[in-house]
Amino acid sequence: IGNKIGLTPALGWNSWNAFGLSVDDGRVRTAAKTMIEKLASYGWNYVNIDDGWEIDKRLPNGEIAANSKFPDMKGLTTYVHSLGLKMGIYSSPGPTTCGGYLGSWQHEDQDAKTYGDWGIDYLKYDWCSYSEVSPKEPKLDDLKKPYQVIRASLDKVNRDIMLSFCQYGWGKVWEWGAETGGNSWRTTGDIQDTWRSMSEIGFNQVAAVPFAQPGHFNDPDMLVVGKVGWGPSLHNTHLSADEQYTHISLWSLQAVPLLIGCDMGALDKFTLNLLTNSEVLAIDQDALGKAAKQAVKGDNYQIWVKEMKDGSRAIGLFNLSDKYQTITLNSETAGAYKTIRNVWKQENITKGAGDFKASVAPHGVTLVRVK
Ligand code: GLA
Repeated sequence: IGNKIGLTPALGWNSWNAFGLSVDDGRVRTAAKTMIEKLASYGWNYVNIDDGWEIDKRLPNGEIAANSKFPDMKGLTTYVHSLGLKMGIYSSPGPTTCGGYLGSWQHEDQDAKTYGDWGIDYLKYDWCSYSEVSPKEPKLDDLKKPYQVIRASLDKVNRDIMLSFCQYGWGKVWEWGAETGGNSWRTTGDIQDTWRSMSEIGFNQVAAVPFAQPGHFNDPDMLVVGKVGWGPSLHNTHLSADEQYTHISLWSLQAVPLLIGCDMGALDKFTLNLLTNSEVLAIDQDALGKAAKQAVKGDNYQIWVKEMKDGSRAIGLFNLSDKYQTITLNSETAGAYKTIRNVWKQENITKGAGDFKASVAPHGVTLVRVK
């Protein structure tokens, strides 16, 4: 394991933002089928079940099992694997999960073994209810402990299983997530499909970004594009089109897992285009594994610069205001370059003498790559 898996951020789907606790076998199969038909050729490959799959009571021997919404978890995993995709699951270190289902408390080895038997490739491990069994005012060691325990349990299983921590950034997890065996770690609370939520999360990753590295990435939470709703009320994301370009651009620049959070059975053309721009995804997936730095922070605009393995830089010019504005990329920020390419449009920009200037839409972005 160690540095051999998850060298670039995971690309996949997670059930939570669309279905919340009402995820079921059929919805996961639909996600897998859609992924293979429309997304896998762009690198998307994880199909991750979030909370809500667990049975009410452990089996007499203490093993975990799935509830009636997942009649055959191993069969489902076999199906997902047969498509060439990977399968993820969710648990919490406490007695119960955030959704009130069974957690892995004191059953970590057993659960890791079950995941291995099922063929699970990715575990999202939350925190909820662990506070009940850990010190009231947790010190750093207390925050690390449940993740060390589950990492050790997973390491005993003869299967590579990615581990994603989900404890909302406590104790500056980005500083110790890698050494504690995390392939990724959530840096924030839960995202919502609003400009406020998405932008507050996305533009506040400054402390975490230096810690991104191959095999170990920050996770500012899942994508809120397409049809989302956390269960009963699926609706189109409340992010505007430009806000969605900002969302995907910023997440890609920051080299974080891209986990689609929508109903994959209702993937519309816009969302599909958003998720299948190979030049944008190449920024997220760059082998150097570095996250962009916030190079310029204006009152209502920001410029983020990501170093790429081939020596080029990916640069996002973000307009945080409600009006169009012209953002200037000077040579101090961009470094020297001969070519400049508009990444979303996949076309080179012909630029006259002087600094590159972009007229950027409200809450929108111009994403370029300079070489
Ligand atoms: C927490 C996590 C979410 C989701 C739910 C499941 O809120 O942050 O991403 O996994 O738990 O109950």
